[in-house]
Amino acid sequence: MISIVYEVSAYRRLLADNVKTGDIVIELGPHTGVSTASYAKKAKFVVAVDIGKESDGPFKKITAEFPQVRYINADARSFETIKKVMKLAKKCDVLAVDLGGGRYPDTVFKVWGAWSGVFAPRDSIIRNRGLAEFLQRAQIKDKTIIRNFDDSGWLSEWGRATPSKIRDQLAEFKFYVNVKESP
Ligand SMILES: C[S@@+](CC[C@H](N)C(=O)[O-])C[C@H]1O[C@@H](n2cnc3c(N)ncnc32)[C@H](O)[C@@H]1O
Repeated sequence: MISIVYEVSAYRRLLADNVKTGDIVIELGPHTGVSTASYAKKAKFVVAVDIGKESDGPFKKITAEFPQVRYINADARSFETIKKVMKLAKKCDVLAVDLGGGRYPDTVFKVWGAWSGVFAPRDSIIRNRGLAEFLQRAQIKDKTIIRNFDDSGWLSEWGRATPSKIRDQLAEFKFYVNVKESP
């Protein structure tokens, strides 16, 4: 299933509820790991990826307490990061993405699409207000779009495990404008 939330407490709760005993979890944007600590005990293996420096200290403690948790300080928008994580985790049951709930939905969708396309998770949990509002407001006006898909946590349109295509998709990030930094 693909779940979308905005409230951070709802995100953490959903993540803790969705992770089953023995699951492999990839968490993108865990920040100080409050969300990670909520399910780490149940998971068989966790790879947490954050670009910021604030995660380093808290994750030293989390990885000491839960040896099944690995932390990588890296950019989730980079194909190199996907490759690093693929070496650690061959499979992913739950993919969690929180790059900042108010962060540009296009970036979040693209990051989620690339990672879910590679790892084909059973469940995806995304924290993003723009995506949630889009889903709430949009109506499909095309009768050829029918519910003929299963309820897994990824979209077949992203081409399961076509690494060169995923790399090309992520390379488009260089054309993205960081609105906050532009004049
Ligand atoms: C709102 S915080 C996450 C909060 C966390 N889920 C929790 O429950 O406490 C968003 C995090 O996403 C990280 N982030 C933003 N862009 C990222 C990127 N491109 N790659 C990896 N991490 C990123 C930020 O550094 C930040 O730590």
